[in-house]
Amino acid sequence: MEHMARKPLIAGNWKMNETIGEAVVLAQEISNEMEPDWLDAVAVAVCPPFTDLKPVYTVFEFDKLRVGVGAQNVYWEPSGAYTGEISIPMISAIGCAYCIVGHSERRQYFGETNEDVNRKVQALLADRTHPIDPIVCVGESLSVRESGDYITFVDAQVRAAFAGIDADVARAAIVAYEPIWAIGTGRTATPEQAQEVCSAIRETLGALFGQDVADEMRILYGGSMNEGNADLLLGQPDIDGGLIGGASLKASSFVQIVKAAL
Ligand code: 13P
Repeated sequence: MEHMARKPLIAGNWKMNETIGEAVVLAQEISNEMEPDWLDAVAVAVCPPFTDLKPVYTVFEFDKLRVGVGAQNVYWEPSGAYTGEISIPMISAIGCAYCIVGHSERRQYFGETNEDVNRKVQALLADRTHPIDPIVCVGESLSVRESGDYITFVDAQVRAAFAGIDADVARAAIVAYEPIWAIGTGRTATPEQAQEVCSAIRETLGALFGQDVADEMRILYGGSMNEGNADLLLGQPDIDGGLIGGASLKASSFVQIVKAAL
């Protein structure tokens, strides 16, 4: 699915799943089922837990397959006394090309605020010598959806995430619209619902960075995306790919979604 100059991105968010051996098997299955030339038309990435990043990277490297690897979170300080945290230089050194930031599960269970998300996005975009593109997650809860104020809510999340960031570096960032009511519920947003918010996000990006930059930036949809519904979602003009949870843990489903983006 071609969207002007935007190359679609299909990214798997493995969340807290797969021990090291399981991760290597899953990565190898994905590698085996992918045709290398698909990657000319669609960018593909998987985001496993930290403990699996290096082995999963190595599987794709060994197969010379241009599937990117991303972290699911990162801390904004480069090093120091921050027990339990992982830094940008650490994930960069093992080959990460992407990093999910501000996933709703991190906001909900680990108290991540819009300010934390902004610090992480700023830190990731500051280092362009070892570029790691942030995948910035936004999306409303069911109660916000039902209140009718979801566009205002998502607009504020996007503005907060990108506060203080210049247009020339912002263009490397990716935004993922993930309505919380659609995550892991099997209740996917309809293509029209997803398009409405993704188009509003592009308007916000245009107001922040100018229309040219907004037209370059990729906006993904996430929330119960699978091989059955990917085609229609990816066909929407402002949806440039997907962030896939559950369906990314099954190689055949994930690869079918990649095919739907071609
Ligand atoms: P599901 O695809 O399991 O609904 O998860 C979506 C998600 O949260 C991806 O980040």
